[in-house]
Order: sequence, then C-alpha cells, then structure tokens
Amino acid sequence: MSRSIEVAVFPVAGLGTRFLPATKAVPKEMLPVVDRPVIQYAVDEAKEAGITEFVFVTSRGKSEIEDHFDHHTELYETLERRQKAAALEDARSADLPVGSYALVRQPEPLGLGHAVWCARHVVGDRPFAVLLPDELFRGRPGVLKQMVDAHSRLGGAIVAVREVPKDLTDRYGIIDVETDDGTAASVKGLVEKPAPAEAPSNLSIVGRYILPPDVFAYLDRHETGAGGEIQLTDAMARLLGDHPFHGLRFTGDRFDCGDKAQFVAANLVLALDRPDLADKVRDRIKAHI
Ligand code: UTP
Repeated sequence: MSRSIEVAVFPVAGLGTRFLPATKAVPKEMLPVVDRPVIQYAVDEAKEAGITEFVFVTSRGKSEIEDHFDHHTELYETLERRQKAAALEDARSADLPVGSYALVRQPEPLGLGHAVWCARHVVGDRPFAVLLPDELFRGRPGVLKQMVDAHSRLGGAIVAVREVPKDLTDRYGIIDVETDDGTAASVKGLVEKPAPAEAPSNLSIVGRYILPPDVFAYLDRHETGAGGEIQLTDAMARLLGDHPFHGLRFTGDRFDCGDKAQFVAANLVLALDRPDLADKVRDRIKAHI
C-alpha cells in the first residue's frame, strides 16, 4: 500500500509569453474560463483527489492568485447584507481552508524543474502531486483522482500521458515504454522534445505528475537541459530503476490554456456544457460559424 498523496505543487512562476498582451499585467493562471480563473479548475481537481495542502510557486506580479484563494471578509459581508446568497456561494467556492496553502517564490523562471525544487521544504519527505494550472483537464473522476488511484496500486512515479501526432514529438516530453496494459504504461526512459525520428513513442507527458520526494535530490544539482532550462523531465528520468514509473492514459479532455486557440476552445466547450449558458452562447455565435 503506497503512502497517500496529501500535498500538491502548482508552479505559476512562468512568464506566459504565448499569451501576451493579456499576461503583461495579469497572470495567465488568472484568465477566466467561463466564470472562474483557470487555476481554480486545477485546485478543485486536486481537492477532489484528496489533496489537503496546496503549494503555489509564484513570482513577481502573481499576488492576485493568493488573493483569489483567500477569505474576502469585506466582499462576503456586503453580499450577505444585500442578501445575494448565490453570489456569496460563488465567491466562497474558491476559498481554501485557513492554513492549508503556502506560497514560495521562484525568483527567476529557470524552468519547471527549478520551480518544483523551490517547493522542496514545504513538501518535505512525502510523495507529492504537481499540477500545471494552465492545463485544464476535465474527467470523471478528475484526472488527478485517476492518478492517485493508480498510485495506490502501482506506487512510485505516475505521469499523465496522451497520444500526440508522431510529427509533433519535438514539442513534448515523450516516454519510452517497457510494457503497456493499454491504460498504464511502464516507463523505461524519458526524452524531452525529441525530433520525430528519434522519439521512442508518441506518448507525451502532460501537466499532471505524482512524484516521490527523491526527485528533489536530482533537482538539487540544478542541471540544465533542453532550452537551457532546469527540466523536470530530466530529474524524473533519474528516478527510473529506483522506483516503479508509469505513464497513465487518463480519460477526459485537456486544454492547454496557455495557448490562445485552446483557451478560446475551452471557454466555448465548457460554456456549452453549462445548462445556464449553453443556449444563450449557441444562439449568439450561430451567425458567426
Ligand atoms: P510553460 O512553458 O507552459 O509556461 O510552463 P510559461 O513559461 O509561463 O509560458 P510561455 O511558454 O512563456 O507562454 C509550464 C508551467 O510551469 C510554470 C508555468 O507557470 C506553467 O504553469 N513555470 C515554468 C514556472 O513556474 N517556472 C518556470 O521557470 C517555468
């Protein structure tokens, strides 16, 4: 029986250059999909998976994120006085329990591996989850819950994977598969952004991970990899051999909300799923498609 996963790390210290000018003053994780910032979907997914401690790796200009998850006494009192019960419930839906979240700073965007390393003292000697909050996942159960369930069976490291077109492997971290039962693939190698001819498979790692704390020992070395960044993939590759390591094909959808086209698509797809919005959205855009 593997140790349960209590703590999740949310790296939010990137620059969001693909989404300028929106991200000049607003963190990309705070851009709303329908009516909540994209990071709230990841936090809700983590809560559903049983996570009780939340660590945000932030940087300059990201203070809106901590405000979003904090209790907003003044707003709640005003809504209560005005008897706006539904609005009050919506506002409070983002609150995290007092003392359940921590913020650590990444002073420079040196790479995802470095961002995760910045959370090492808060995580301590426990297995932990990493959720990239600009990737919005929809699944039933949620994708992190699917991974936590797999972790309780398989232990070790679990990364969410999905198939990508063979000619696009140079955009992703790709796994080299040892055995595959169609859902969980046992991993024997990891390559960051391989050229299509060199890619060992077409299974790409996406933004949900469960990792043993040993990964911090490798991140401590601050070795740079693809793009001159400290890559999480490279540190994860060092775990192979010492820990079971699986890629999990999840059921559900994924939208990379750091990409403009996918962000717009996420807004439409999620709005069309909402009984209070679907007809109005469909009627309004009919003339344009
Ligand atoms: P991305 O590469 O998607 O984010 O990193 P980015 O760098 O902000 O975006 P672009 O490419 O410039 O548009 C994946 C995740 O890792 C975090 C990002 O905030 C994002 O959630 N990250 C990345 C960090 O926290 N620190 C880093 O040094 C790099």
